[in-house]
Amino acid sequence: MLSPFPIFQSSPSRQDIYPRTGGYQSNMAGPVPVASSLSDIYTIDALGTQAKRWNSLLTRFQTIYGQPAEFVARSPGRVNIIGEHIDYSLYPVLPMAITADSLLAVSTNVASSNAKEGHYKIKIANVQDAKFPTHEFDIPYDAVDIDATVHEWTNYFKSGLRGALELLRKKHGADFKPKSMQILMDGTVPAGGGLSSSAAFVSSSALAVMVANGEKTVDKTELTELAIVSERAVGVNSGGMDQSASVFSERGSALFVSFTPSLKARAVSFPKTNPELTFLIAQSFVTADKFVTGPIHYNLRVVECSLAAAYLNAVLNPPGTPLPSDASPLSVSLHGFHETFFALQEHSAGATSSKSTESQLEELVALTEKTLDKKDGYTREEIAAVLNISVDELDKQFTSRFPVRAEKFKLRQRALHVFSEALRVLKFMSLLEQQPANTDDTSEYNAQLGGLLNQTQDSCRDVYECSCNEIDELCASARRAGSYGSRLTGAGWGGCSVHLVPADKVKAVKEAWEREYYSKLDLTDEQKEAAVVVSKPGSGSAVYLVEDRGPVVVDDRIGDGLRMAGR
Ligand code: ATP
Ligand code: GLA
Ligand code: MG
Repeated sequence: MLSPFPIFQSSPSRQDIYPRTGGYQSNMAGPVPVASSLSDIYTIDALGTQAKRWNSLLTRFQTIYGQPAEFVARSPGRVNIIGEHIDYSLYPVLPMAITADSLLAVSTNVASSNAKEGHYKIKIANVQDAKFPTHEFDIPYDAVDIDATVHEWTNYFKSGLRGALELLRKKHGADFKPKSMQILMDGTVPAGGGLSSSAAFVSSSALAVMVANGEKTVDKTELTELAIVSERAVGVNSGGMDQSASVFSERGSALFVSFTPSLKARAVSFPKTNPELTFLIAQSFVTADKFVTGPIHYNLRVVECSLAAAYLNAVLNPPGTPLPSDASPLSVSLHGFHETFFALQEHSAGATSSKSTESQLEELVALTEKTLDKKDGYTREEIAAVLNISVDELDKQFTSRFPVRAEKFKLRQRALHVFSEALRVLKFMSLLEQQPANTDDTSEYNAQLGGLLNQTQDSCRDVYECSCNEIDELCASARRAGSYGSRLTGAGWGGCSVHLVPADKVKAVKEAWEREYYSKLDLTDEQKEAAVVVSKPGSGSAVYLVEDRGPVVVDDRIGDGLRMAGR
């Protein structure tokens, strides 16, 4: 029987479009929510499109597999507001989820005779089947093999599978036997566009495997931690920002993610401003393939940051001081050095009062400038000598799992970016905690927020060297047209940019991009449509149980008030 309930209202409320006002929300640990309708997941203005999309996914699932899907696992992409390339050095970051997401429709109703002896079956198809062809795998019970030397879309599913199975084995014992699964994926986060389609895919995959294997509740922190570690299996030694944003985010809020002493996320609101602020996301259409360029870009930066931590530790801390082994990709981080340095300093001075984190970071910037004075970089031999290890040992510790190509490592520039960017995140957060002084006109306050984003872009371009001409052009063009702050977002070297724009300048900024950038590219209609997104902070991972609720149905007969029904 149909039990329709309205999902459309005449106009979206302000809260759906702008971050909530009024300070921090509490820590957001707990189980991944089970959505009872699409309005639990999407903002009102997205419901019409999303209901059609979900319906088509479930109908297609039935056509491909000859049976209905049991549930859908969903995780979104993200945009990072501030805190770029510092998550893998374990400093806090401030991203938010976007509406675009990865959906995995799943059934476990697969005859066991379908798989080889000692194996289970994974059938995985994609709604974009020309780009992402269907695969079938017989996977042995004891291990999930991932070949990171090939760039294959199903590797992202397999990495979520591998991580989820490790967790299931921890909970249910080493003999735990996973179920076979039939999957149809629909991802709307542009791949390689800097909005983290990969984390959306891995997080939704891990969630799907947990639910398929009978987990009634999936803990958000456990899911995020496993997704962070397992995504590295595809060959990029990434940090934890994307998966945290994908899993924890809440509609209407940005997310402050901290990684030490343990992973924590809390919702952050923007104060009410006048003029009102909008985040615009603009694609550069330069595809940054982190997998292919890892050895000279992303993975190299991770190595440079860890080497900088080890070098600063060797020079600035007492001889023989070990760096703490932590959750960073190479187990030693600039944050680990930071903590050790000030703990020892206080200890030796017998100090009772500690310095604020801001003043510690300022001190570290000054110390880095003095200590790491070689602007053209450090050779392996030079670093190994200071660390008092052999070059082979250095390679074993820092460059063996994720190979890099570099003659010299730019330790000075990388450490300077990380410490100064960590400081900018704190400054941004303390601005958000204040109410602007003059609430009738907050232009000055808005400009301070934007100024920090512009400084991030300068640092990414000149110090961390992760921007590109096209992103620089988009930022310059937006600022000329009235953006308070413009910068790259995500890994960089192409991909996306984010802009803090007063609501009354959105049109002017979009027109400037069209005139000065997009009209010069040869874009398809689809690309033109997706080029600029007015972002609304979206919600994080969710599960929708089709068996309980029935397929999502868009019933056109209901007229203007588009409805979704459970069957
Ligand atoms: P960034 O990490 O810079 O934010 P990103 O996550 O989109 O951007 P990558 O980390 O390179 O970029 O991941 C992109 C890869 O994820 C694609 O090459 C593909 O293998 C996989 N992927 C993303 N979206 C889909 C999809 N809809 N269907 C299948 N595979 C996808
Ligand atoms: C990619 C990684 C993240 C983070 C950003 C840069 O998106 O997956 O972990 O390092 O780059 O901030
Ligand atoms: Mg990615």
